[in-house]
Amino acid sequence: MTYNDNFIKACRKQQVDIVPVWYMRQAGRYDPDYRKIKEKFSLLEICAQPELAAEITMMPVKKLGVDAAILYSDIMNPVASLGVDFDIVKNIGPVIHTPIRTLQDVERLRPIDVGKDLSHIIRTIEILHKELQVPLITFAGAPFTIASYLIEGKPSKTYIMTKQMMYNEPKVWFGLMDKLGDMVITYLKAQLDAGAKAVQIFDSWVGALSPIDYQTYVLPTIIRIFKQLSSYKEPKIYFPGVSSGELLPYLHDIEADVIGLDWRIPVEEGRRRLGDRFAVQGNLDPYVLTAPQSVIERQAKDIIDQGIRKPGYIFNLGHGLYPEASLDKLKELTSFIHTYSRSAMSQQSAKSGAAK
Ligand code: CP3
Repeated sequence: MTYNDNFIKACRKQQVDIVPVWYMRQAGRYDPDYRKIKEKFSLLEICAQPELAAEITMMPVKKLGVDAAILYSDIMNPVASLGVDFDIVKNIGPVIHTPIRTLQDVERLRPIDVGKDLSHIIRTIEILHKELQVPLITFAGAPFTIASYLIEGKPSKTYIMTKQMMYNEPKVWFGLMDKLGDMVITYLKAQLDAGAKAVQIFDSWVGALSPIDYQTYVLPTIIRIFKQLSSYKEPKIYFPGVSSGELLPYLHDIEADVIGLDWRIPVEEGRRRLGDRFAVQGNLDPYVLTAPQSVIERQAKDIIDQGIRKPGYIFNLGHGLYPEASLDKLKELTSFIHTYSRSAMSQQSAKSGAAK
């Protein structure tokens, strides 16, 4: 099998014959084989076993035919190396034993030591680098999103304690942003050095902020992270998470190649707000996968039609897959995206050829 680099080409806004596709959270509980493995091991136990983590990473590539793999890991993994204890609790998410609330708590956070504490993750990347015939995307959680777990102690809907710190304790807040920014930079560099072909920063919950608060309290750290990674030629993706449409006009100084869109904004409007520099990725509502196939395909077609109007488009969901999604529907959707986009793009180039 030859190496499939459609995903990388699309990230770089180069010409492709099909629209590449991968799904956030594509390695997961919708797959019965994964659920069987999960009966024996927790997420963190799997991550500690590089061979098994690599096998799980490859499962959706083999079963769905997606054009990229995403490392099986979690945004919380590097947090242990900061010196923060946590669990990932079933159906809840990350739970922090002692939340970070004071300047002393922030000062106690250590710089991460990838060689000592995260060598299992690096080993998994090295295995995948050898095995995969599609690019491997690795990732980190963005400072705001990680901070929201560290401060609240668990998933939150309001981010009230996070915002309280932001507004009332700017020294503590910016100290935390600096340390988490350093964590992200060190971790992503180590992933790229180990053979990752692209990196994504998940800022899943930052859409909870107003544009002015995003610009004041979060964006400078995001700009710093991408600047520090700019010597790496591998594509870099920033996913500003759910409800992030209103933040898109403010991202232009970020040295990322691709921006992920959530489903609340049409691809065309997302592009208009972002400007022409970025490729875009997204943005089917993951819950549309509960609909009949005809509805799924109609929505996918509409997204692809908008996506291919300009170079630099990658199909994905607007947020992660959920456990109730079905393997069969995902397989059908993946094959539909490939078939439909191939014919739509060849018609498009025939038309533009005729116009010349
Ligand atoms: O995308 C992939 O397939 C790669 C693996 C991946 C996981 N987490 C595995 C995981 C990725 C990219 C993540 C990122 C992640 N983790 C994010 C950002 C993406 C997003 O969804 O916005 C966030 C916010 C987390 C934090 C987290 N970890 C949550 C909210 C949960 C869900 C808890 C639950 O049980 O519903 C987790 C656990 C988690 N991370 C699971 C997986 C496969 C579920 C654990 C399991 O399989 O039991």
